[in-house]
Amino acid sequence: MNHTAAVITVSDSCSAGTRQDTSGPRVCAMVEQVGYQIVHTAVVPDDPDRIQSILVHCADTLRADLILTTGGTGLSPRDVTPEATRAVVDREIPAIPQAMLFASLRITPRAMLSRAAAGTRGQSLIVNLPGSEKAAKENLEAVLHTLGHALEMLRGGGHDRT
Ligand code: MTE
Repeated sequence: MNHTAAVITVSDSCSAGTRQDTSGPRVCAMVEQVGYQIVHTAVVPDDPDRIQSILVHCADTLRADLILTTGGTGLSPRDVTPEATRAVVDREIPAIPQAMLFASLRITPRAMLSRAAAGTRGQSLIVNLPGSEKAAKENLEAVLHTLGHALEMLRGGGHDRT
């Protein structure tokens, strides 16, 4: 496996420098651990235009295979990451957030408060994760080992029928 990844932290407070981002580095470490090369990291505020433009940059210019966001999936008025993601994907993959939800509900009922989205833009796969380091880790753990197969399918392969 020789895939690239970009990790985007979506947080007003981390972007303003009033809170340290621990979720982005944790997500980076997890994907590096399974062989991805990190090609970009960024911290952006909970602003739909800023989120959309960093996602488009990572997909269309950097051509990152996997683009993970952390933060902004909840219910506060500024939480807009799922909407910004849906605005830029060609095809949604609802079962990825569903798989994260099923795994996460075994850990906490608050998992139902994440509205995370996932989808493809060109050959890039975009997946939203919640914002806390704990929640980001738990959600990513639920799907990480399946994402490599998704990336192979995006390239037209991966149908091994097993
Ligand atoms: N999923 C897991 N596995 N573990 C968690 O602790 N926290 C939930 C949920 N998903 C959580 C989780 C909570 S409390 C919220 S508000 C939502 O994720 C959205 O988080 P976000 O707004 O930081 O993206």
